[in-house]
Amino acid sequence: MNHFAPPMPLPVPVTRPNTVCVIGAGYVGLTAAACLAAVGHQVQCVESDPARLAEINSGQLPIVEPGLAELVAINRAAGRLGFTASVQEGVSQAQVALLCVGTPPRASGDPDLRQLATAARQLASAALRDLIVVIKSTVPPGTCEAMDVLCAEDARADIELRIVSNPEFLREGRAVEDFFFPDRIVIGAEDDATAHAVLELYPPGTRAVLCDRRSAELIKYAANTFLAVKISFANEIAALCQHLGADSDSVLAGVGSDARIGPAFLGAGPGFGGACLPKDVAGLIATADSLGLDARLAKAARAVNFDTRQRVITTVHAAVGSLAATRIGVLGLTFKPGTDDVRDSVAVAVVDALSGAGAFLSCHDPLAGPVALPGHRVSDPYQAAAGAVALLILTAWPDYARLDPYRLAETMNGNVVIDATSVLDVGAYHDAGLEVLAIGAGIPDSYHPVIVGPLHWALDAALA
Ligand code: UGA
Repeated sequence: MNHFAPPMPLPVPVTRPNTVCVIGAGYVGLTAAACLAAVGHQVQCVESDPARLAEINSGQLPIVEPGLAELVAINRAAGRLGFTASVQEGVSQAQVALLCVGTPPRASGDPDLRQLATAARQLASAALRDLIVVIKSTVPPGTCEAMDVLCAEDARADIELRIVSNPEFLREGRAVEDFFFPDRIVIGAEDDATAHAVLELYPPGTRAVLCDRRSAELIKYAANTFLAVKISFANEIAALCQHLGADSDSVLAGVGSDARIGPAFLGAGPGFGGACLPKDVAGLIATADSLGLDARLAKAARAVNFDTRQRVITTVHAAVGSLAATRIGVLGLTFKPGTDDVRDSVAVAVVDALSGAGAFLSCHDPLAGPVALPGHRVSDPYQAAAGAVALLILTAWPDYARLDPYRLAETMNGNVVIDATSVLDVGAYHDAGLEVLAIGAGIPDSYHPVIVGPLHWALDAALA
């Protein structure tokens, strides 16, 4: 039976359908609920926010994810997926419950686990039979064991609650695809039987990493931190390219084509953002700090990320001189293309900084959700460029690569385009009379000071 709307490929249905309760209808919870129903499980999704629940019940989704709306509709209609505000109702028949609530960062860097603790305790008191409680939210190592202690007080004495770590690795914008076809499934459990019961939730054939709970929890922090390190490395090399008169796209492509390194997450840009990478880097640093360890690479990735964002701001400053009362067009607000999410978006932070320095901003994004902006938001990229002294591209939406540079040149009041994302065809813009300052692209110059060192060393050798 095809539970999936085309053009997504079809996952293999599970052999033993379960009754599953999913707590939380955010990116992770809603995706998990719809995808688990699609592979044959009976799923109840519990959402405590009445507005979000009403939206879902009216047939609208609170998030934009390719394929998700179709999956929710199909599986609801088939009776495999339901939504409720009540944990009691959601868990009444369940053998497994997935905790997919938010763990937002606190000012200290470590996550706020209150939503998780509340949901775990509600599950423990509502459970009518033995229950496997799976923590999918990203949490610091040790959280499963902390939940054991917390839930012990609430569960009935004749009920066994087994708490499992099963971190989620899906990317926003590709959540459904990543859920069905992940690189790996990580399960941290106290015993093999419990681990295999969780593994059976997923379509067969996926690579599984089965381990203890603390290790599973740490895998998630470590994976996101490694991605952050890789991006910050790319941005550090891009900064070097810019000063050196080299081209970061070519350099990073060359570096990434070594199979040991790989090209993924070596894309230079304005820096990493979103609800996960910055939070998880901070979480890993806080975990290390709590043990008296210094997570130096993670700290460096975070510092380089901040510098990368500042470099974009400095480039705008240098290009337009004073920002006071200067009109700047901004293209892109989401933290990456392919999502409507603006949480911890570098683009929004740059907009705030430029506005703070007195610039007048006109911003466009094809999909961004509601966001408080100091400038005004327009529905057309050419409108954002109208009258602008400089145009700044902050999110690599493919739509921006297709803009007509002649039309932009005509509507702008200056000729500088700052591309923090490497989406533009610099040559075409040059032909239209626009100067593109691509972050990471230096201008080769035979008199560049960088040749002084090698020349000196070469002459030394020749004279020796
Ligand atoms: C990230 C991880 O990729 C997922 O595996 C993980 O499940 C998720 O966090 C999570 O913890 O929930 P996501 O936040 O959706 O996923 O976004 P990414 O695609 O990882 O991008 C994060 C940031 O890095 C974005 O700002 C993006 O523009 C930036 N990035 C990414 C780069 O600057 N360069 C790259 O080459 C790749």
